[in-house]
Amino acid sequence: MAQTTYRAGIIGLARMGSWWDDKLRETTPLEVPSSHAGMYTACPRTELVAGCDLDAEKRETFARRWGVGAVYADYREMLARESLNVVSIVTSWASVQGDIAAHVAASGVKGMYCEKPMATSVEQISRIVDLCRDRHVAVVVPYIRRYNPRYATVRELVGSGVIGQLRSIHATAVASLLHAGTHYFDIMNYLSGDPEPAWCVGRLEDTSHIKADSWSRQDPSGSGYFECRDGVRYTFDGASGGPASFLLSGTAGRIWVLNEARDILLWRTKGAANGVAVETIAPAEQSQSLMYAGLEDLVHAMDTGETTRCNAEQAARTLEMALAIHESQRLGNARVDFPLQNRSLSVDTW
Ligand SMILES: NC(=O)c1ccc[n+]([C@@H]2O[C@H](COP(=O)([O-])OP(=O)(O)OC[C@H]3O[C@@H](n4cnc5c(N)ncnc54)[C@H](O)[C@@H]3O)[C@@H](O)[C@H]2O)c1
Repeated sequence: MAQTTYRAGIIGLARMGSWWDDKLRETTPLEVPSSHAGMYTACPRTELVAGCDLDAEKRETFARRWGVGAVYADYREMLARESLNVVSIVTSWASVQGDIAAHVAASGVKGMYCEKPMATSVEQISRIVDLCRDRHVAVVVPYIRRYNPRYATVRELVGSGVIGQLRSIHATAVASLLHAGTHYFDIMNYLSGDPEPAWCVGRLEDTSHIKADSWSRQDPSGSGYFECRDGVRYTFDGASGGPASFLLSGTAGRIWVLNEARDILLWRTKGAANGVAVETIAPAEQSQSLMYAGLEDLVHAMDTGETTRCNAEQAARTLEMALAIHESQRLGNARVDFPLQNRSLSVDTW
C-alpha cells in the first residue's frame, strides 16, 4: 500500500527554520539536516509546501532557497489555505511559540514539530498538551539528546542494574534555565526513566548586569535540588560553568557522563579483584542528525498513533521544573511542590 506523503509547513523561516544547515555543513556535517526546511526536503515521507514569517526578506530568501511558492506573513492564513498535515513552529520568543502551538494543535494537523521551550508557563503548555491529546496530534519537541545513541547507552547501563538502584543524578551545566536548562532537566528525566518530580528548592543566578531588553536577563541560569516521587534525587548546578556533565549514583556504583556522552566512565563497588573497578564504556555511535531522527519519529507517530520519544508531556515536565526554580527563588528559596500551584508564572525566553 502506498504511504501517505505529509504536507509540511514551517512558521519561522530564519536560522533553525531555514538556513542552519549551511553552517552545520562546515562544522558538523553529521547533524545535517537539522533545519526544519532541510529536514522536510530530505524526508521521503514529507513535502515542504509552505512557509510563514513576519519578515518579508526571510520569506523571499526561503522561497528562493527551497523552491516553495506559498509563503505567508500570517500563519492563520497559511493554516486555512494549505491543508497541512504537519507544521513546524520555529519562531523567536517562547510565549509566541506557545500561542502559535495552541492554534496549530487546534487546526486539524496530524503532527507538530515545535521548537523548545514550547511555552512559558504551566498554564500555556498544559493547554497545548490537552489540545494535542484530545485531537490526536503527534508532537516532537526537540530535546534531541533523547535521539542520541550515546545517551541511550547510558540509559541502558542504568537499566541493566550495573550500578544497582539509581539514587541520584548530579548535573553541571551553566544555562539559561528555560532556553537551555530544560535540555538538561530533560536528559536527567530520560536517564532515570522519566519519574515524576515531587518537590524542589531552587536558586537563580543574578543577571542584573545583563542588558534589560535581553532575553537572557529574564531567563537566568540557576541551580536546584529536586526529589522525584520514586525517590531519585537530582542536583542541578548552574553556577560552575563549562560544558554539561552528569554523575549518576546508584547503590552499587557510579557513572560519569562527559563530552556529550562520548566519554562514559563506570565505577563499580563490586567486580574487580581489589573490590573497585573503573571501566571506560564505549557508547553506541551516532549515525544521523538528531533533529532528523526527531522527524522520523514524528512521521512514525503520525502513521501509527503512537507517541513520540520527545513528546509534549515530557516537554511540559521540564518546563515545570525550570519554572519551579523561579518560583522557589520568588518565595525566598522555599520548597516548591509539584504540580506547581502558580500555573500562571511565566518566564519568556528565546
Ligand atoms: N533544537 C535546538 O537544539 C535549537 C537550537 C537553536 C534554537 N532553537 C530554538 O528554535 C527557535 C528559533 O530559533 P532561531 O535561532 O531559528 O530564531 P531566529 O530569530 O533566527 O528565527 C525566528 C524567526 O521567527 C520569525 N517569527 C517570529 N514571530 C513570528 C510569528 N508570529 N509569525 C511568523 N514568524 C515569526 C522571526 O521573524 C524570525 O525570522 C527558538 O525557540 C530556539 O530556542 C532550538
